[in-house]
Parts: sequence; structure tokens; C-alpha cells
Amino acid sequence: MKDCINVGLLGAGTVGGGVLQVMERNASDIAKKVGLPVRVLKICDRQLEAMKKEFGDGYEYTAEADDVLTDPRIDIVAELIGREHPAKEFIQKALEQGKNVVTANKDVIAKFGGELLELAQAKGLDLLFEASVCGGIPIISPLKTSMAANKIKSIMGIVNGTTNYMLSKMQDEHLDYDAVLKEAQAKGYAESDPTADVGGLDAARKIVILSSIAFNTRVSLEDVHIEGIEKIEACDIKYAQDMGYVVKLLALAKNGPKYGVSVAVQPTMLPMDHPLASVNGVFNAVFIQGDAIGEAMFLGLGAGRYPTASSVCGDIIETARNILRHSTGRIGCGCFEEKRLCPPDKMHYPTYIRMKVADQPGALAAIAAAFGAQNVSLRNVLQKNRKGDEFAEVVVITHSVPETNLATAVQVLSVLPMVKKVCTVIRVEDRTLD
Ligand code: HSE
Repeated sequence: MKDCINVGLLGAGTVGGGVLQVMERNASDIAKKVGLPVRVLKICDRQLEAMKKEFGDGYEYTAEADDVLTDPRIDIVAELIGREHPAKEFIQKALEQGKNVVTANKDVIAKFGGELLELAQAKGLDLLFEASVCGGIPIISPLKTSMAANKIKSIMGIVNGTTNYMLSKMQDEHLDYDAVLKEAQAKGYAESDPTADVGGLDAARKIVILSSIAFNTRVSLEDVHIEGIEKIEACDIKYAQDMGYVVKLLALAKNGPKYGVSVAVQPTMLPMDHPLASVNGVFNAVFIQGDAIGEAMFLGLGAGRYPTASSVCGDIIETARNILRHSTGRIGCGCFEEKRLCPPDKMHYPTYIRMKVADQPGALAAIAAAFGAQNVSLRNVLQKNRKGDEFAEVVVITHSVPETNLATAVQVLSVLPMVKKVCTVIRVEDRTLD
């Protein structure tokens, strides 16, 4: 008979340290919920001496992952070192050694989730990864359990706190992208190398994980159309506001009954009354549409020591309960459907386009003709003249049109003699324009 569930921790940095603190602080409640005490037995980290100093004598320490992965006393390995390698190999080895795994690693799950989940299933083990998407927000577990009866039609998420903070600042304080990025870096909200966040890759990994679960099919990073926020200017946010929209970096996944799955990370204009439009600062949110649930939104902190630890600890508790009831491996990979990717000519949405245009007779007519020739119908047209600028700024919002028609129209516009530059193209999500 077991008298305790033992956890081995790989990585005791920001998140790992949070896990240790939460497990310790709430140990007695957790033991009651599980039916046995759950304790971290061993910690693996390269900073051995610093770890011992920070976390004290109550744990065993090692700098070798194998000391955790092959320790027969350990029931659950919590992988919290991040990045693809060697984290993937550690997870794989833990499973091969018969250990259940909890991880916060979106890089590994987005890329190797399918094969690792299959391995876990073959071994009858749990591989849980709630913290890999949106830190503290429970979204994977609800998709796999409470909402499992639904056909999920769409997921729209603000899943990157750095870019949401930056866009909110640009909106509230009318600041430029560069100024906001510098400020976010100084405050520690943006990394010194912010490429993965501002370029959309971080959000893409998260929507790959969510859409694979929601649509029962293996979506990969190559399937995602990725655009970051680097080209968004303060004036786009202002014009959007003037027209009743806010600009958000959205992760969007749709599963149409006719043409299949489309997945994108794109700056997107949302009507101000959309539930996601008021999600500001470092907050994350995921908005789901299902055939039974209707619409549901999950909101919370998508990063940070304790919110992320909350999800990791929840997975540890779930796994510990499963171990005691001999029911690990119940919910594995759910990708039983073949993927059908929606072709671009079947993707329809309205679009915002801002251009610098020569302020001369016939310019607007030529622009309208270029749109018309591609069957792109215009809904709003706005012209702004700035003092001292020989060019006018023309902003249009189209009706919902196929992506391919829009792309051709933009190409044609960019080479028109009176169009100096097509500055910004932003997708608009507005059901009233469909
Ligand atoms: N860098 C991410 C964000 C958190 O800004 O939301 C970790 O995925």
C-alpha cells in the first residue's frame, strides 16, 4: 500500500519554484482531495546550490535528469524546464520508465504532442499539459471533459499576454509600437528577444494545441497562417477605434462543416461589444463556440509563477487521483479525425486596409475600380489628410470576401501609380459584416 504520491521536478525556476510553494502551502487540503499526501520528493536543476538554499532540506536534489527519470519511488514527473530539447527526450524517457508526466511545455506539446500522447496511451499513463496553454486558465481540461460532447465550431483566443499588453498600451496611451515594446521590456512583460511573442509564434503553438483537441484532428504549426503585430501602427488603432473596433492579436481556429479547418494568428479588429474586446493588459481569454454549449469564454492570467503553478498542481492532483484509482491513461490523444484544411478561396472575412495615396482627382475611383475588379465590395471608406503631407491616408473596410480575392486586390493596389504604399492589412471579425 502506498502512503504517499511522489513527484519528481525537472526544473525549479519560476514555474517549478511556484509549484513547490503551492504544493507545500496547500499540502493538507491537497492530501484530503487526493486521499493521500502528494509531495515533491526530488528536484533536478542545474543551479543545485542556489536551489538548496532557496527550498531547504525537505527535498532530495540532483543535477542529473536521469536521477529523477529512473528513480523507482517517483510516480509523477513534472517537466518544467521548457523549450523543445532535451525536454521532449525527458518526457519520453519518463513515460518509457512507466511514470506519469505533467508538463507546462507548449513547444514540446505543439510539435510532439501526438507521438508522446500515443506513447502515454500505450503505457496506460497520464500525460497532462494544462499549463502549456494560457498559464493559469483551465482550458484543456474543460475541452477534454466538460465540453467533450460538443462539436466545437470555433476558438478565438487572446493567448499572448505580451502582445495584449502592448496593444492595450498603444490604444490607451496612443503610443507607437517601438515605445511600447521598450516600456514592456523595461517592466519585464516582454522578453529581451521578443520575437516569438510579437511575431505570433508563441500564440501559434497554443492554438495548435487547442485546435487539435477541439477539432479531434492533428493540427501542426505548418497549418497556421502566422502574422505578428510588428506592422501595427498607433494610427491603425485610432482609426479602428473611430470605426467602433479594437485591434487584438487573435489566435483563430474554425472548423467549417463544408470546407474544414482554418487556423491563424493575426492582428484582428473586433467590434467593441465583442466579449474579447475588453480583455486588456496581460490578461488572456479564450472564446469558444460549440454546438451544445453555445458560447463560452475563459478568462485569466496566461503567464506568471503562481497562475502557471496552479495549472501544473491541478494536473498533479488529477494524476495522483488517477494513480490511486488505477485509472491513469483514461483521456489520451483524441485526434481520431482526418484533417481537412479549408482552401484560402473558401475563407471569407472582412478586411481593413490603410493606404497612402496621392491626393489627386481620380485616385479614389481607381482604388474602388481595383477592388471592384476582384469582386471585393467596400463597406466603409475614410480619407484622412495630415497637415503638411502631400499624400492622403485612405482607410477602407471591405465586406466579407474570399482571402484570395483580397490578396489579389492588395497586389494590384500596391502597383497603382497613385498608391504610394499599402501600409496595413488587418482582418476584421464582425458577424454583422458577413
Ligand atoms: N510569453 C507568453 C506571453 C507567456 O506573453 O503570454 C508564455 O507563453
